[in-house]
Amino acid sequence: MNKSQSPIIIGSDHAAYPLKEKVKLFLLEQGIKIQDAGTHSEESVDYSDFGIKVASAVSTQEFQRGILLCGTGLGMSMVANRFPHVRAALCNDVFSAKMSREHNDANILVLGGRLIGDILAFELVRTWLDTPFEGGRHQGRLDKFDKIPQ
Ligand code: RB5
Repeated sequence: MNKSQSPIIIGSDHAAYPLKEKVKLFLLEQGIKIQDAGTHSEESVDYSDFGIKVASAVSTQEFQRGILLCGTGLGMSMVANRFPHVRAALCNDVFSAKMSREHNDANILVLGGRLIGDILAFELVRTWLDTPFEGGRHQGRLDKFDKIPQ
């Protein structure tokens, strides 16, 4: 993975806290800087609070990329995609992770911590970070929904 990758903001709820910690270590081992937006334990919290923290930081371009995890990934996807210029992609398979970058220029990767194991999560993160956006016809498609009033 590219060590010059811009820093990544990462957040989860309690359900995916164990996987978040493992993904954090994986990123750090690859030399990628991270900011951990929480949560910091398996004590029950509201996923929305952490989705808002990460998605707002990506929306304002404080961070170029973010990773969100909750039990299924569904709640985090719903929250994150409310923010302007956020394209959050729930990817629990490698093909989706690749396509979410090539065709959709996803800027937040969402993972379901209760659905996938550590090794698959690392492969999803690696694929997502290493795959460039193809641009071209796909840019025009993104522009159309980026213009929808919030
Ligand atoms: C928490 O129990 C669970 O609802 C949450 O992690 C997530 O799956 C929501 O979409």
